[in-house]
Amino acid sequence: MSVFFNDSTLNEIKSRVNIVDIIGRVIHIKKAGSNYKGACPFHNEKDPSFVVSEQKQIFTCFGCGATGDAIEFVQRYYNLDFPQAIERIANEYGIELKRNDENYERKQILYEINREAALFLYRTFNESANKGYQYMKERGIRPEALKKFGIGYADEKWDSLYIYMKNKGYDKKLLLELGLISESKGKHYDKFRNRVMFPIINTRGKVIGFGGRAIDNAEPKYLNSPENIIFHKKNNLYALNLTKQDVGKEDYAILVEGYMDVISLWQAGIKNVSASLGTALTENQARLLSRYTKNIILSYDSDGAGRAAALRGLDIFRNEDLNAKVLHVDDGKDPDDFIKKNGKEAFLKLINEALPAVEYKIEAIKQRVDVYTEEGRVKLFKEIVGILRELSPIEADIYIKKISNDTKISEGALRTELEGVRKTKPIGTKIEQEAQDIQKISNLEKNLLKLIITNPKYYSKVAPYAHVFKSRAGKIFFIVRDLYNKGINIEIKSVEEYLDDKEMKIIQDIDKNILIDGMEEQIFNDCVKEIEILDLKKREKELSDKLALTNEEENASQIKEIMEEIVQIQRIIREQEGS
Ligand code: CTP
Ligand code: MN
Repeated sequence: MSVFFNDSTLNEIKSRVNIVDIIGRVIHIKKAGSNYKGACPFHNEKDPSFVVSEQKQIFTCFGCGATGDAIEFVQRYYNLDFPQAIERIANEYGIELKRNDENYERKQILYEINREAALFLYRTFNESANKGYQYMKERGIRPEALKKFGIGYADEKWDSLYIYMKNKGYDKKLLLELGLISESKGKHYDKFRNRVMFPIINTRGKVIGFGGRAIDNAEPKYLNSPENIIFHKKNNLYALNLTKQDVGKEDYAILVEGYMDVISLWQAGIKNVSASLGTALTENQARLLSRYTKNIILSYDSDGAGRAAALRGLDIFRNEDLNAKVLHVDDGKDPDDFIKKNGKEAFLKLINEALPAVEYKIEAIKQRVDVYTEEGRVKLFKEIVGILRELSPIEADIYIKKISNDTKISEGALRTELEGVRKTKPIGTKIEQEAQDIQKISNLEKNLLKLIITNPKYYSKVAPYAHVFKSRAGKIFFIVRDLYNKGINIEIKSVEEYLDDKEMKIIQDIDKNILIDGMEEQIFNDCVKEIEILDLKKREKELSDKLALTNEEENASQIKEIMEEIVQIQRIIREQEGS
């Protein structure tokens, strides 16, 4: 069931854990009838409307609608993902976690080695005078921040860390794998030398790698741990382990390029900050952030590379349904520079003025084209239409006015061009259009139609589910129904008589491409299951809409009923999807 843990572990957790106990550890709940009641931790309230049912092992808040089981509570309360929540609960209950990860043991040792290394480097940095400390001091980083970020120093000798780790008994091979040491002509030496060390710690608190900043002019300026089984740059963000709480609290994250940017902003009191690890932003990093907030401020360097990276970042965030804006500092090359010169308030002001994606993209075009020439304005116009085209009609409409004001391009021209693009785009060739029509019909609809036309006995079995047929598939189904009611034999030939060209193509595609021979019953059952889940999801949506409209004070009991039904539906959906 889970990719992380084996089923018996999960089952044990589910049976051993009592939600009243889990929640009672962190909020004050009192017995009220057969349930427990307290103040909801997920929203501000005066009168307790947070109810925990011991019997059902669920919690529900009649105020904000939060609801779920013990694991979901732990996830939400502590901002954890599912495996992290399981880990936490297992720890608290002393349940041994059995995992499905064959590399699990080796990973644990690698984490331990990195942790030992981080501690060693941290002590080197802190226990006696050294160039690393001097360097960071000169860059204006104060002791509190140095400590918080676990900054370390790798000294100039060639083997300090290697010898330390060897004496601890760690295998050379593992040190090599982590990129802490190198080997040449049978000799081993430290990879990081005379560098300020930034431990990179994931959101579960494991040291997964290091970035090392050269103190002299050594190349590269930053040396990073190589990719290995515990260090995947594309899945992690720097310092999010320390800042995720602040990100959640502020409900936005400031994403910067460099380690030093993070530390400088943090020390200036802007703590909801993180950095991608010296690579272009990835989808996984966007998803990681989306666990804590949906709002991002990209604050990359003001140079060309930083601007290009911001443009790419905007698209990545948009694809993950996050709302991103862009800020470029107007004094200095990066946020680190800026905040040192101008302070926190000035940076907060920049945050306030950060540009939403569309506006930033338009600004970027303006920088490229010469808007004082006719040619430049035509280019600007075309590219703006390109940007608008990616928006929903409503969004586009909102922006058209604003853009027209800013650029002095007439609203009418923008609308006409946009409509033209919208209208002409989907037409394409006739064959493309047919292919699109066929694609639009879901596999569920295709399978059901195929069942009916292959074996008429399925008509009456499928009939109760007529509501799943949409548009053209729906028309085909209604023709079948008429034939059936008139007592005419249902087969592809008799159906085809009533279809237009497009519908013919659809039914022929189904006839040819949907294969069900000998599996009719099984396919039918699968379809029914799928429909049941779809119907449940629809019902869930209806209920949550209803909930949003119900007055809390007046209809507490009704709300309770709705909540219970939602929780139950979610259960069933999970079970159905799991099986
Ligand atoms: N970086 C890297 N490898 C390099 C250069 C940079 O991994 N050779 C990454 C680091 O994570 C660095 C970030 O890219 O923090 C930004 O690089 P850059 O703008 O060059 O450095 P700054 O953060 O400005 O660092 P500093 O202020 O120390 O010069
Ligand atoms: Mn810098």
